[in-house]
Order: sequence, then structure tokens, then C-alpha cells
Amino acid sequence: MVNQNKTIDSVQSRAIESSAQGKASESSALSLTREQDLPAVFKRMVARGPVVPVIVIKDIEQAIPLAEALAEAGLTVLEITLRTACALDAISSLRTRFPELLIGAGTLRQISQVSAVVDAGAQFAVSPGYDPDLGETCRKHSLDLLPGIASASELMRANRDGFYFVKLFPAEAIGGMRLIQSLASPFAETIFCPTGGIDVSKAKDYLAMSNVACIGGSWMIPATALAKEDWLLIRDLASQAQALERAFTA
Ligand code: 3PG
Repeated sequence: MVNQNKTIDSVQSRAIESSAQGKASESSALSLTREQDLPAVFKRMVARGPVVPVIVIKDIEQAIPLAEALAEAGLTVLEITLRTACALDAISSLRTRFPELLIGAGTLRQISQVSAVVDAGAQFAVSPGYDPDLGETCRKHSLDLLPGIASASELMRANRDGFYFVKLFPAEAIGGMRLIQSLASPFAETIFCPTGGIDVSKAKDYLAMSNVACIGGSWMIPATALAKEDWLLIRDLASQAQALERAFTA
């Protein structure tokens, strides 16, 4: 499988088309084309809802009940961050227990992590920044990557390597919606998954932007609720997240 496979020619011709069509028709025409260009796993991610929960599992015993609470609320795409000793075990056990969920590995930073993530059964990966070598290694392992970018330069490099669906990270700290608005015109063919510092009220504003396909965040899993294993609260917050509306259309 080729990751985020598109040619520069198709990108350029769409950019030219979009400027010729003008702003009103631009958003729906572009979003349709963009979505079609996503790797299959990201099409499924976007189709399942507007929010991807970013999860830090410290206690492996919490992986299943947490995933259950999120899935009951409709959040069926989970990013399990590689920040804890049990992260790979969590990915593997969630894949076995809930084959219908889409389980990705987050915080992918090192080339050496790629094969471990694939072996654990992760269906996609998310990195906080963009590293061309990491992108290439994921491609070699047929692991679809949602790479993080924080600037125009990083986005240019990611685009050059074929990544047009990117995580804007850490979104709130680097300009958030204003940054996405500023990048929208020069990077008309890129779609974003902003992540970092977003809560439910900010989520609404991000999702009002037509080049934001989904957002990532951990607000629906408050640390205090996780400590108390308050699955009902987590399920309610997750339901609110799943119910958010978005402007992006496939
Ligand atoms: C992360 O990778 O930590 C995500 O950006 C989650 O950010 P948040 O906890 O601020 O939602």
C-alpha cells in the first residue's frame, strides 16, 4: 500500500482548478477530491466521526473498559500513544478484543518503533512532527502515517513526500485556527487534523473549517475520571465529541 499517494501534477491541477472556480465552489470541490486521495484507513477514520481520542494508557487493565466506554459513545477510532510501557500491549489487546475498532499508534517518533507498532497490529500511526526517514520507513512497512506539522516549511516537506493529510500539532500553542486559516490558501490541497490543547468548545470552531477533516484530543478522558475509572463520565464526554458537527464534506 502506498501512503497518501498522489502526484504533484494532480495537486497542482486541482489548485489551479480551485482558484479558477472561486471561493464558493472551492470548499466542496476540494474536499471531495481530497478525501478521495486519502489512504483507505484515513477515509474510514474520517467517515467514522469528527474526533479521534488521544489516549495514554498507564494501566493495561484500563485499556478494555476505556475503549468500551469510548466505543459505546461512537468513538471507534482510537489513537494509543507510545508514551507508556504498556502501549504496545494495549494496542495488541484492543485489536484482538475489538476487531471493529480502528486502532492507531500515536507519538511515533523513532524508526525503531515502526516494526513494533506493525507487529502489535496498529492500523495507522500518528507522529507529533515530520521526519522524512520515519515517513519512508512507515511506507516500507505499509503503515499509513498521519504526520505532525507545525509550520509551512514542515508542510512543504511533508507534501513533497506525499503526505497531504496532516496533524497540526501542538495546535493551540502554535496559532490554532488562525494558523490553519493562514495555511489554507497556499496549501489548498492539504487537509488537517489539529491536535493539542483542544477542548469541546474549541473543537466546534476547528470543525467549522472546511479543511479540517477531524480533530484529535484527550479532553473526553479527564485524568481524574480515568483515575476513578468513571467510565460513565468518559462515555458522556465522548458522546458530546461524537455529536459535534463539521463543515468538511467527503
Ligand atoms: C497529544 O499528542 O498529546 C495530543 O495532542 C493530545 O493533546 P491534548 O491532550 O492537549 O488534547
